[in-house]
Amino acid sequence: MANIQRAILSWYDQNKRELPWRTSKNPYFIWISEVVLQQTRVDQGAPFFYRLTSLFPSIEDLASADEKDVLLAWKGLGYYSRARNLHKAARQIMEMHDGVFPTKHTELIKLAGIGGYTAAAISSISFNEPVAAIDGNVVRIVSRLLDLPGPVESAQTAKVIKEFANEILSINRPGDFNQGLMDLGSLICTPKSPACTECPLMEVCLARANNSQHLRPVKKPKKKAVNRFLIFKILINQGKILMEQQQKGSIWENLYLFPFDEHHSEEAFLSKLDLENKVLIDPSLHVLSHQRLNYAVLVSENKPPIMHGNWLSLDEIYDLPTPILVPRILTRIENQLAPLF
Ligand code: ADE
Repeated sequence: MANIQRAILSWYDQNKRELPWRTSKNPYFIWISEVVLQQTRVDQGAPFFYRLTSLFPSIEDLASADEKDVLLAWKGLGYYSRARNLHKAARQIMEMHDGVFPTKHTELIKLAGIGGYTAAAISSISFNEPVAAIDGNVVRIVSRLLDLPGPVESAQTAKVIKEFANEILSINRPGDFNQGLMDLGSLICTPKSPACTECPLMEVCLARANNSQHLRPVKKPKKKAVNRFLIFKILINQGKILMEQQQKGSIWENLYLFPFDEHHSEEAFLSKLDLENKVLIDPSLHVLSHQRLNYAVLVSENKPPIMHGNWLSLDEIYDLPTPILVPRILTRIENQLAPLF
């Protein structure tokens, strides 16, 4: 175990990536970076990290912000429940911990949206607590090191991975060790073409010895994403477009979106579209992690009274918290919309 530890730490010392959140151990910044990195790749995370930390430089700033502004700052990252939880946890820290970030894994996991991985990343990086932070990289590395044949989602294999990751963890430098494994997983022990000959663990890796690195980790087949069929309606009145705030229970809770009809089969969706003559975008696909959104966009002839609802200019819509689909749709139809304003 000691040789694995030494190999990871010395590899990390020589190869660690210079990332904006690595210049500080402030748990608030580490937390923001970890939540951002659950939604985007490390090499694309920096602008989002800078945006969030410059708009909300401290827990107090985040806790006292309006939810709308937090959602807006999150725009482009998707899966907005992470942003809502970020906001909620900041308020919990203010209320339950007098604004002082909890230092222990057992306290951190009680906060909104902070699971085992995030709690371990924060407590090890910021507070030197020896807890393994097990993300996808670590799962892949350990399943190769031990050449594990079982699916990594199974309780049994997950337990083996967790125990091994905690066994090899450096007690003196747990934050560096955890991040060393993450970097090794991103740079060397990659999912598709691992660079085994450059790996500091080459000598002790069972998958490499058995030439099974391409077969690890074993994963359960993914559940198929559900298809949804949506027809968005652009309602225009006096140069303004109607936007509706989405209700609780929607994947877009509290975000603004064009009014839409949802159909429960492709057939119903297509036959409804056939009846329309003002289709701006023909059936298209927008893929989310668990849903495939089949959508089309039309201009609706209905003119409800402008006093009701949120009638907004294009500029105002770009400034709203919306799913990323909204600006994507608007850029595709801007030319067609111009004569209608
Ligand atoms: N992915 C998520 N968190 C990370 C971190 N702290 N370092 C490298 N990659 C990461």
